[in-house]
Amino acid sequence: MNTQILSARLTLTKVALHDWELIRSIYSNPTLMEHIGATMSEEDIRRNFEKELAPWSLDSTHWLTWIIRETDSGNDVGLISICTRNREHLTAEVGFIILEGSKGKGYATEAIRRVFDFAVDTFGFNKFTAVCSEEHAASRRVLEKAGMKLDKIMPESTEIAGKMVNDCFYSLES
Ligand SMILES: CC(C)(COP(=O)(O)OP(=O)(O)OC[C@H]1O[C@@H](n2cnc3c(N)ncnc32)[C@H](O)[C@@H]1OP(=O)(O)O)[C@@H](O)C(=O)NCCC(=O)NCCS
Repeated sequence: MNTQILSARLTLTKVALHDWELIRSIYSNPTLMEHIGATMSEEDIRRNFEKELAPWSLDSTHWLTWIIRETDSGNDVGLISICTRNREHLTAEVGFIILEGSKGKGYATEAIRRVFDFAVDTFGFNKFTAVCSEEHAASRRVLEKAGMKLDKIMPESTEIAGKMVNDCFYSLES
C-alpha cells in the first residue's frame, strides 16, 4: 500500500515507530483530548500505537493512521485515521486530531477530504462515518466542510471527563 499521501499543503505518512513521541504527546494532552475522552495512560497509548504499526487491510480491526505534516516546513500538524466499520458495505469511520499550533488553517478539512479520496480509490470504501460531541462546534464544522451530513444526535451517549455528552453521527456516501 502507498504509505504517503499528498494534498495541496500536507503530506500524510503512515504512522511509524519513530512517531511514538508525537503519538504519546497527543493522547496525553488534556486540551487535545477535551472532546474525545480522558487522556490515556502511557501503557494504553503504547498498546494502541503498536497495533497501528501493523500492516493494514480492509479486514483489519485496528485504525489506519497517518501523521499529517506540512509539506513545506516538515512540521508535525496532527494525525488522521480510518477504521473499517462495515466490511460488507465498505464503510469506514474517520477520526482526526490537529495540534494546537496548527489549528484554524483548514488543515483538518484538507486532510479529511484527501483521505476520503484516497480511501475510495485504494480500498473501494463507499461510505464514511464520524462521531463527535454535540458541543464540539469546530469538529462539526470540519465534518460539514468535508461534505458530511448529520444523521442523528444521540442524547447522553458518551461520558467525557465525568459528564454525559450528546453524540452527533455524521456520514457521507461517495
Ligand atoms: C476540531 C479540529 C480537528 C479542527 O481542526 P482545524 O484544522 O482547526 O479545522 P479547520 O481549520 O479545517 O476548520 C475549523 C472550522 O471550525 C470553525 N471553528 C473553530 N472553532 C470553532 C468554534 N469554537 N465554534 C464554531 N466554529 C469553530 C473554524 O472557523 C473553521 O470553520 P470555517 O472554515 O468555516 O471558518 C481541531 O481543533 C482538533 O484536532 N481538536 C482536538 C481533537 C479533536 O477534537 N478532534 C476531533 C474529534 S471528533
